[in-house]
Amino acid sequence: MPLNEEIANKKEEIYHSCKETIRLMLAQEDDELIKMSTISAILKKNFPYYLWVGFYRLQGEELLVGPYQGSPACLRIPLGKGVCGKSASKRETIIVDEVENFPGYIACDSRAKSEIVVPVINQQKELIGVLDVDSQYKGAFDEKDKRHLEELIKEMF
Ligand code: SME
Repeated sequence: MPLNEEIANKKEEIYHSCKETIRLMLAQEDDELIKMSTISAILKKNFPYYLWVGFYRLQGEELLVGPYQGSPACLRIPLGKGVCGKSASKRETIIVDEVENFPGYIACDSRAKSEIVVPVINQQKELIGVLDVDSQYKGAFDEKDKRHLEELIKEMF
């Protein structure tokens, strides 16, 4: 099922209000886990088309799950594997409209139909992980999601 127009038209508005809340809550904060937990919780609470949202943190050659909001997910993803591992190794955002068409896609929840993964690169230009969002709708993510999530990550880390 594709994302309905009513929700799609509200994207901008929801991103703006989430960013306001996140900025207010994290203004004085520098702890990475607090930031990742709070960002995941605020996004999950406000976006009806987010099925799962969370971070995978880079440790050596692997991405380790958490913090996140949603059903239990794959614990460790090797760099270069799945959408997350590919986004991390390329340091590029990846949007997948239909997960079944992505070679090497790692399925954690059969309800997930589309996905966006944004690399998390800090001020020192180090890759510290990825932000991963899954949707129950096909083709849920577009340039708006990409722009807002990339801006958010750049501002917060
Ligand atoms: N689908 C991801 C795995 C992580 S889950 O979606 C939470 C991937 O292919 O990397």
